[in-house]
Amino acid sequence: MTELTPISFVTTDIDAFAAMKGRIAVIVTPEGKLEASARRVNRLTKGAVQRFVDSDGFQKVKSGDVMSMAWPAGMAATAVDVVCLPRNHSVADARKAGAALAKLRGTGDMLLAVDGARRVAELAFGFVMRDYTFSDHKTDADEPEGEVTVMCSKPDDAEDASASLFAIAQGTFMTRDLVNEPANVLTTTEFAKRLEDMQALGLTVEVLDEAALDKLGMRTLLCVGQGSDSPSKVVVMQWNGGAKDAAPLALVGKGVVFDTGGISLKPAAGMEDMTMDMGGAGVVAGTMRALALRKAKANVVGLVGLVENMPSGNATRPGDVITSMKGDTVEVINTDAEGRLVLCDVMWYAQERFKPAGMIDLATLTGAIIIGLGHENAGVFSNNDDLCDAFLKAAGTESEGAWRMPLGQAYDDLLKSRIADMKNIGGRAAGSVTAAQFLQRFVKPETPWIHLDIAGVASVTSETALAPKGATGWGVMALNRLVADKFED
Ligand code: BES
Ligand code: MN
Ligand code: ZN
Repeated sequence: MTELTPISFVTTDIDAFAAMKGRIAVIVTPEGKLEASARRVNRLTKGAVQRFVDSDGFQKVKSGDVMSMAWPAGMAATAVDVVCLPRNHSVADARKAGAALAKLRGTGDMLLAVDGARRVAELAFGFVMRDYTFSDHKTDADEPEGEVTVMCSKPDDAEDASASLFAIAQGTFMTRDLVNEPANVLTTTEFAKRLEDMQALGLTVEVLDEAALDKLGMRTLLCVGQGSDSPSKVVVMQWNGGAKDAAPLALVGKGVVFDTGGISLKPAAGMEDMTMDMGGAGVVAGTMRALALRKAKANVVGLVGLVENMPSGNATRPGDVITSMKGDTVEVINTDAEGRLVLCDVMWYAQERFKPAGMIDLATLTGAIIIGLGHENAGVFSNNDDLCDAFLKAAGTESEGAWRMPLGQAYDDLLKSRIADMKNIGGRAAGSVTAAQFLQRFVKPETPWIHLDIAGVASVTSETALAPKGATGWGVMALNRLVADKFED
């Protein structure tokens, strides 16, 4: 797994400022007021920092921006990075500034001279989140990397404040690694193994194999994987940090390790992107990791359906009718609408077994959600305003885009089948809504439920605020916050 950049927290030492050979970051308000460390660096540079801050270029700087002064006179440093943060900055701005500093990281050392435990922690979090690279499959030797040190007045407080944020970063890195991993490496078996490894963190992990799934009657899930040599699996991860008999929150993830479309084969162009079709399962795994690492005082169960959607002589055909675990029959019109077939059985199982207090499923479910919302927002569908509002608030706080979409009987009607209880597609119109509508048929009325269609946000082709291009880990921060806000005692 990709490791977080190590950051050491030490007490501010003014002598170190002059001797520092790499980059040194200091904080200034948008009005040009220097923080204590910035004033010290300013004195060393005989006022150059203040003149830089007073210059025209700095006037346009916004909260969270960073501007660099190269080779400051009077210091050994190669650069002073001036971070613009007002006293009452938002969490997002501090993280953004941390991310901007990470992008400036070269092979030399870096010193962040900052004060205030909370602000230090958010800066460090932004830094590590953005300082991610997926280099497992690059054979050229890594360049030696410089050390990153935070200097502040209360390093122990800062380190304490950072601990839970670093747990979230580690969870996010797990999600990103899983999503970035190619499908020949991340098979269903390898995926299950990586989840089993999380038992070391105190999670209870069970792997259900095809025989067990068959016994449970999960035939819509199994029908997706039957064309592949990789065996289908469902993995159940339990974190019991809450009250003994409190009903858990259930997180359910689509884990299609590769989606060729099956017999309804996808076009060749862009098919390689379908290595990310396990993104929902990746977010569930990363969230469980974060919750375990920070020892969340909540009961949360994560369930993922791991399958590979391949065409073969044994694959499900368009027109086949399959019976779900719930008992409802599905006419498979298009084998490329496979995610819902996986999720419906896992969601039903989650409710039957755990009677959850809430259920959130995540899936790279439809191309249509990308047409609708692009890469800025995940589609949010829900049968429960309270849970939905709490999620939207959590996502907003974490600056993870999420936009509520409608559900309704008229959309559900589009799933009517001539020969079975339902079809697995509703046609071109409102493709993301009919997909959600299909899922809702497997949600018990008493279960507060959210469906998150993350096809547009799980992996992107240009960098985001806290991630380089590729897998983003979207959702780990929001779900972690939802658990903290609504499910922790
Ligand atoms: N995995 C895809 C959805 C997807 C598309 C994810 C692009 C990420 C990027 C899903 O299984 C799929 O193929 N959906 C079809 C549904 C259609 C056949 C009703 C789609 O969106 O075209
Ligand atoms: Mn598909
Ligand atoms: Zn898919």
